[in-house]
Amino acid sequence: MKAFRGTLIDFTGNPRTERGALRHVEDGLLVVGERGEVVSRGPFPRDPDPGLEIVDYSGRLLLPGFVDAHTHSAQTDVIASHGENLLDWLERHTFAAEARFADAGYAREASEYFFDELLRHGTTTAAVFPSVHAESVDAFFHAAERRGLRMAAGKVMMDRHCPQAVRDDAESSYRDSQALIGRWHGRGRLAYAVTPRFAPTSTERQLELAGRLAREHSGVLLQTHLSENQEEVRWVRELFPWARNYLEVYERYGMVRTGALFAHCLYLDDGEWRKLAAAGAAAVHCPGSNLFLGSGLFDLAAARRAGALVALGSDVGGGTSFSMLHAMREAYKVAQLRGVPFDAFDGFYLATLGGAKALGMHECIGSFEPGREADFIVLRPGATALLERRMASAESLEARLFLLMTLGDERAIEATYILGSKPLP
Ligand code: GUN
Ligand code: ZN
Repeated sequence: MKAFRGTLIDFTGNPRTERGALRHVEDGLLVVGERGEVVSRGPFPRDPDPGLEIVDYSGRLLLPGFVDAHTHSAQTDVIASHGENLLDWLERHTFAAEARFADAGYAREASEYFFDELLRHGTTTAAVFPSVHAESVDAFFHAAERRGLRMAAGKVMMDRHCPQAVRDDAESSYRDSQALIGRWHGRGRLAYAVTPRFAPTSTERQLELAGRLAREHSGVLLQTHLSENQEEVRWVRELFPWARNYLEVYERYGMVRTGALFAHCLYLDDGEWRKLAAAGAAAVHCPGSNLFLGSGLFDLAAARRAGALVALGSDVGGGTSFSMLHAMREAYKVAQLRGVPFDAFDGFYLATLGGAKALGMHECIGSFEPGREADFIVLRPGATALLERRMASAESLEARLFLLMTLGDERAIEATYILGSKPLP
């Protein structure tokens, strides 16, 4: 057994709706067992067991690792590419970048870099879009498995309105996805996510087969984009004239379900929010991307009214940062513009247990409950000169977390642990 001393912070539920959901032990001890599971969390004992190896992180904050509920491992090399808007950015930069993932060697190198970045930023679990190529998914899962990470991903399905180099067809996308599910889903800590890119790049046949894959394979996730940009919403209306709204396109094919992750959700009406919530699907708020691409301002108040599951995503490369601290502060700013209350506890909840719930992994990760997998991070409150200066006058836990959320970046991540150990480089 190993143990870690520091300030322990985690959540047992959503602190905005559940009283006492935030747990905070100022001088705490997190004990991790042989298999990398949390054995206990609590105050640092008066007489610690002399046989216990204790790593001393006094003065630092220990939290469950961050969950990035929406990101693209094939878009690292388009981060910070100028685009007029979403559709222009996809056509001018993104499809070409993803085309390179047909090359398995490049996909392997890019996957390793992607995981290095995630871990540097304290992200231990993510729901990820590689590319349309099965090779990109194999490269992704091999790299995740080698490092022992809990990850979800799936082959991007896209059979129209995109260049040939990133286009599949409905039947082959079904067969390839099925083979990948057989190879990877439930292997160790890995989960497959059926991944139709978004309605405009799939024929109805492909969407039907995506829904079928999700039905046929119990426990797989499903991820796509929904209602991100006004031009996209108009295009969906033209392409699917029978649908009363965007969500109904996905509903028709059985894609609105528990374990479904819908990135963005900027232009949903109340009816769509209600359906999404009733289905147990999650909305993934990607504020960094929404601001960078000028897509719009997420309506967190509508999501809360509907009782929908919400998680946070970096949406790299539409988003420009791997950091979930960055995602939290951008979410705060969007909420400010919308006049919606959003505090540091909202931010840290969404990036930990909230994300785990959206991915259906809250019984494995996302908190320090005994038995959970001990993926955790060590945050250094005085990581930069400015943080150190400001922390000196931060009296409450909320103030400290708000400073980290607003001013922190990867320099604040002193260490990232996977199953209680530092991961392989
Ligand atoms: N909609 C369809 N594809 C994408 C993508 O790659 N990024 C974002 N942000 N939106 C999308
Ligand atoms: Zn995306």
